[in-house]
Order: sequence, then structure tokens, then C-alpha cells
Amino acid sequence: MTNRKGIILAGGTGSRLWPITQGVSKQLMPVYDKPMIYYPLSVLMLAGIREIAMITTSEDQAQFQRLLGDGSQWGITLEWIVQPKPEGLAQAYVLAESFLDGCASAMVLGDNIFYGHGLPTQMAQADVRAGGTVFGYRVSDPERYGVVDFAPDGTVKEIVEKPAKAPSNYAVTGLYFLDETAPARAAAVQPSARGELEIADLLESYRHDGALNVELMGRGYAWLDTGTHGSLLDAGNFVRTLQDRQGTQVGCPEEIAFEQGWLTVEGLEARAAIYAKTGYGAYLLGLIPR
Ligand code: TTP
Repeated sequence: MTNRKGIILAGGTGSRLWPITQGVSKQLMPVYDKPMIYYPLSVLMLAGIREIAMITTSEDQAQFQRLLGDGSQWGITLEWIVQPKPEGLAQAYVLAESFLDGCASAMVLGDNIFYGHGLPTQMAQADVRAGGTVFGYRVSDPERYGVVDFAPDGTVKEIVEKPAKAPSNYAVTGLYFLDETAPARAAAVQPSARGELEIADLLESYRHDGALNVELMGRGYAWLDTGTHGSLLDAGNFVRTLQDRQGTQVGCPEEIAFEQGWLTVEGLEARAAIYAKTGYGAYLLGLIPR
């Protein structure tokens, strides 16, 4: 059982998805049969985390609350925090300081989808490691991301944000396991030229102190981005393909809560009743051992 608290960063402008995200938050868009936010939420739940702060814009908060409530339906608690302006990923730690209350955390970006055998084990290892742990994933277009520059001995030299010429193919994914010093470190980060508190600068503070671990997610993992129209559709097709082929759900909070022992059979039945008209409801009922 982890003592870590979770953060889901689900603000932002989603301008690359306009006009569809001009009226609705990107993280409420469907990824096949579920709202996008279900997928990162499921990742934190798979890490055993039950206390989670949801960071949204002030305009979008009510819609997220309508969907997710206080989390008790899944045996978790959700605390609601507003990010008034999209002033960078590292700002999440400043905003969440009192929520974290001296605890270590795992933060996931609200538009990141992770899927792969071994993910819970890899997160459990990150949970017990000191300092900060981030996950590198091989991509064909690293220039779009924060990229890991490795020294010849395999240690991390630097994390470079959107480099013109990438020092490696390993992008830093949107899942960060940081220790309890993250809010103080984030408060010391200066805004960048684009006016944001950059996560790369926060990670550099850890690296400078010899406290940054980069774990690689192997080729058996899927790390999907949903920030553009094409990638959003691709992510939906990926989820549909897997679910139809295997008959199992990707990113189902009820299933994870039930597996974790946070939801009773009665609790699961109550959830299934809400979705009685859908395959999702039938799936939930099918999870109950007969
Ligand atoms: P981005 O995709 O970098 O930004 P965005 O969502 O605003 O989209 P666009 O570039 O199309 O305008 O953000 C990555 C994730 O982090 C996404 O889930 C939104 C979230 N985010 C915040 O919540 N607050 C922020 O200040 C930033 C920069 C991002």
C-alpha cells in the first residue's frame, strides 16, 4: 500500500483540437467508449493510489465533477483544484502543495494513455525509489517532447524540452513519480520564455541533485498521445481493437477498484445498474465471480 498521493493535470487549452475543444475540455473527449480522463485515472488507481487531486480550469471543473463526483463510487477520494491559467506542468505541484501535505506523489497528464503488461509492477518499483522517477518511451518524433539526453554510462545528462535536434529517441512521458520535495522545487522554478513553469526545469532540479531516475518503458507498452485530431482517433481505434479482440476493458475504474478490493460486489452491482443499457454495464457484471 503506497503513501503516495495522486495528481491528474487536466487543464490546458487544447488549442490543437479546436474547434472541438473550444466548448469542452480535451480530457472529456471520448477515447472510443470512455472519457479520456478515465485512462490516466486508471493508471493512478493501478499504482494503488486512492487520494487524488484533479486539477482543471475553473470553467471545466463543474463538468468534470458531474462525471467523476467525489470518487467514492470507486473507493477513492477526489479533491478539486483549479489552475487559473495554463502556466505549465510544474505549476501543478505549487497548486497541490497543501493537498500533498508533505507526501510524495505520482502525477499523470490528463491526456496521456498508458497500456502495457507490467505497468503496475514498474510503478510499484518507482513508488519505493528515492527522489524522482520518470519514464522514457521510444518515439519516432522525439522533437515534439521532452527528450532524454543519456551520458555514455547510461545516466541522464539532461532532459531537453522540444529540441530542434533530439539527443535520443526517448521522450519523457506524462507520468511523474516525485518525492515530497516537488512543491518546494517547483516554487523555485522560473517561468520560461513561453511563460510556463516547465516540467523539464523541475526535473533538472532533481537531476542536479543526483536524484532523478529515468526508467524505460519497453516496446511492449503503448504510450499514446491524444493531443491532435489524428492521434485522438488513433487512440480510440487502439482501445477499440484491444477491447474487441480480448473482451477486456482498457481503463475501467470499476474493474481496477474491484481488483484492488476498494469496491464490494454490491458496489460493483450498483455501478453496473447505472450502465444497464450498455456493454459496459454487462462487462461490470461479468467481473463478479459466480
Ligand atoms: P499540452 O498538450 O501541452 O497543452 P494543451 O492540453 O493545452 O493543448 P494544446 O497544446 O493543443 O493547446 O498539455 C498536456 C497536458 O497537460 C494536457 O492534459 C493539459 C495539461 N496542462 C495543464 O493542465 N496545465 C498546463 O498549464 C499545461 C501546459 C498543460
